[in-house]
Amino acid sequence: MIYPNPGFPIYESQIIACGARPVPIHLHEARDFAFDPGELERLITPRTRLLILNYPHNPTGGLLGRRELEAIAAILRRHPAIWVYADEIYSRLCYAGEFFSIAQLPDMYERTIISDGASKTWAMTGWRIGFAANPVLAPVFTRWITNTESCASQISQWAAVEAINGPQDAADSMKRSFLERRDLIVRLLNAVPGVTCRNPGGAFYAWPNVTEACRLVGAADSEVFRKRLLHEAGVAVLADIHFGARVPGEGQHVRFSYAASNQAIEAGVARMADFIRSNRRAA
Ligand SMILES: Cc1ncc(COP(=O)(O)O)c(C=O)c1O
Repeated sequence: MIYPNPGFPIYESQIIACGARPVPIHLHEARDFAFDPGELERLITPRTRLLILNYPHNPTGGLLGRRELEAIAAILRRHPAIWVYADEIYSRLCYAGEFFSIAQLPDMYERTIISDGASKTWAMTGWRIGFAANPVLAPVFTRWITNTESCASQISQWAAVEAINGPQDAADSMKRSFLERRDLIVRLLNAVPGVTCRNPGGAFYAWPNVTEACRLVGAADSEVFRKRLLHEAGVAVLADIHFGARVPGEGQHVRFSYAASNQAIEAGVARMADFIRSNRRAA
């Protein structure tokens, strides 16, 4: 099973838990954290069964554009045994125009499992509601869920129905706030010494490159940098290694979540900048 790296850590652990072999496909900063379709073609073998796609993407906020999706679909048409698992949980937090699903391309609908949930768009993380759609596999999913989890709690199911079918003004205004926060955090991060940050197209994460910042403060890598940022500056981020093995040649990254107030974002990035400036002076 081929899955994005860096990526949501559950992909790799779930693949292993299911007894399959995890095959990471690398995302590249120079491609705004998309993968190279040529690399996909090279990773596919006769034993490949699943391709996991996730966009807008956790942790980079990256997107796959229509042209990239068409290239991926063209490859998959030559390999009919491969299913697509499209994790579209951030599809309504897409800032670069309308979200486009790979399932909209010819021949892709039947073989794509669309996965979504209530946690992001409606901020219902604790309600534990997710859903998946595929015309062929729906009866299999039903049997599987009945025999593994029984079902999602009825209260949560009704709450999700209300969230999905009810007025969307709260979700829409949240999306506008996330877009403002995205612009804020990217602008602030790019002014921090030793930090560069691409403009993420969706979700609520920023994935700045901190290779130079690590060097400035004498941190061996992003994980040492992350720990010092937490203990010495009181700023909690995740390091790239929490999302899979570091991609060779891509440098060091950390992940900021901007599901936080403007004030918290401003204070957090200011503390990071102070931490780097004072440690650079010390060095
Ligand atoms: C890419 C991705 N998929 C799925 C999920 C699952 O969300 P939940 O378990 O809250 O529905 C998350 C949560 O962080 C995520 O980032």
